Parts: sequence; C-alpha cells; structure tokens
Amino acid sequence: MKLIFIGPPGSGKGTQAKRLAAQHGVPHISTGDMLREAIADGTALGQQAAPIMASGALVSDDLMIGIINDRLAKPDAARGFILDGFPRTVVQAEKLDTIVGNGSGNEADGLRVLQLLVPDEAIVKRISLRRSCPVCGAIYHLESARPAVDSVCDREGAELIARPDDNETAVRKRLEAFHRQTLPVATFYKTKQVLREVDGIGPVDEVFERIERSLS
Ligand code: AP5
Repeated sequence: MKLIFIGPPGSGKGTQAKRLAAQHGVPHISTGDMLREAIADGTALGQQAAPIMASGALVSDDLMIGIINDRLAKPDAARGFILDGFPRTVVQAEKLDTIVGNGSGNEADGLRVLQLLVPDEAIVKRISLRRSCPVCGAIYHLESARPAVDSVCDREGAELIARPDDNETAVRKRLEAFHRQTLPVATFYKTKQVLREVDGIGPVDEVFERIERSLS
C-alpha cells in the first residue's frame, strides 16, 4: 500500500491514517508529526519550522522534500507507507513522483490518493476541541474522541495538550493555504486517475469504513 491522504486541516487525516497504517502494517508518515518532533528536540530544522507552523503557513518545499526523501529511503517504507500531510504543493507532488517509482505518479507506481472531504465550517469546531498526547501523538477530541480520564492520554498517562497552531488565526491561514496550495495537488492526482474522494463527515468508525471500501 502506497497511500497519500489529502484533506484540509482537522479533516481527520491523522486519525484515519494511524488506524489504516496499523491495520495494513505499513508506516504512518506524518510530516506535521515529524516537524513537531524536530521542534520538541530543538533541532535546526525545528527552529526553522516552529514560527512558520505557528503562523499557519507552509514550510518550504525544499525542506519538506529533503525530509520525505530521507524518510522513504528507510527500510520500513519499502513495502508501503501512508503519507499524511505530504505532498501539500504541486512541486512536492511532482518530486514525489520521482522518489516513489518510475516517475509516472500513477497506479503503475502503486500510488493511490485519498481526499477527505470536510467543509470549512466543520473544521474550526473540530480543531478547537482537539487535544493530543505530547508523548505518543495520540489524537483526542473533547466531544467525539474523549480519553477515559479527562485530559489524560489513555496510553501514556501524560497530560493532553492543544497544538500551538490550533488557534483561530492560524487555523484560518492553514485553511487558506489548503485551498490555494494543496487543492491543486488533488487536481494533479485526479488527472492521473488515482484520486478517490471520501466524505469525512460522520463518526470516525463510519469514515474509516468508507475509506476501506473506497480502497478495496
Ligand atoms: P499537519 O500536522 O499536517 O496539520 P494539518 O494538515 O493542518 O492537519 P491536522 O493535523 O490539523 O488535522 P488532521 O487532518 O490530521 O485531523 P485529525 O485527525 O487530527 O501540519 C501542520 C503544519 O506543518 C502545517 O500547517 C505546515 O506549517 C507544516 N507542514 C506539514 N507538512 C508540510 C508539507 N508537506 N509542506 C509544507 N509544510 C508542511 O482530527 C482533527 C480533530 O477532529 C481531532 O480532535 C479528532 O479527534 C477529530 N476528528 C477526526 N475525525 C473526526 C470525525 N469523523 N468526526 C468528529 N471529529 C473527528
């Protein structure tokens, strides 16, 4: 399985990609998680990315392509992967074509693309109620995916946090970046006939079933 998730911020890419990766035994590669790890570790990459992410803008294509090139070269990605958050621009999509196979970027490379459809109005509510575990990255929601004990990760026992880019100003900028820079990526894959669209509204289990059906 070589799958790319496309969707606006807060559409459920991380939630569904983690689950799908566990089910299919392939790594879940989230560029957002990788950047947040770099920030937590205080690396040069993290220092460069932190203010850009906090503002809701996209990190540069060159940096992101370098990160993905290195990550996909690791042995665990040889039998497949689920990409969450990459590619986010047409430049990144074109480069991915040359990284993953014969460069056609279509099913000949085994590449499939899933676009989660969630309207902007639903996004702001979802994101404002999101909390995540700073240790394992597990994603919760104060209404639809609550931990067993309030504000505590079920797995790690750590106190859940809100992401610094989940404030209203940054979310609007992230939505704008999605419409302007990432929707053309969906068109890029539609032209190659590898894009499937899935309705991302409804309970998490139901969305997961729709995803599985669209991939089978
Ligand atoms: P990234 O971490 O990728 O953020 P994003 O795309 O904005 O997506 P999110 O993580 O916010 O949401 P999601 O779709 O994963 O939703 P989730 O499952 O958490 O990127 C962050 C930043 O890093 C970017 O802004 C950029 O600066 C930089 N970056 C990363 N990659 C880059 C790249 N390739 N190029 C340039 N810059 C890059 O769900 C959201 C909430 O909703 C949760 O609380 C969840 O529990 C809940 N939820 C999920 N599904 C449902 C449902 N069906 N019903 C109700 N609630 C639900």
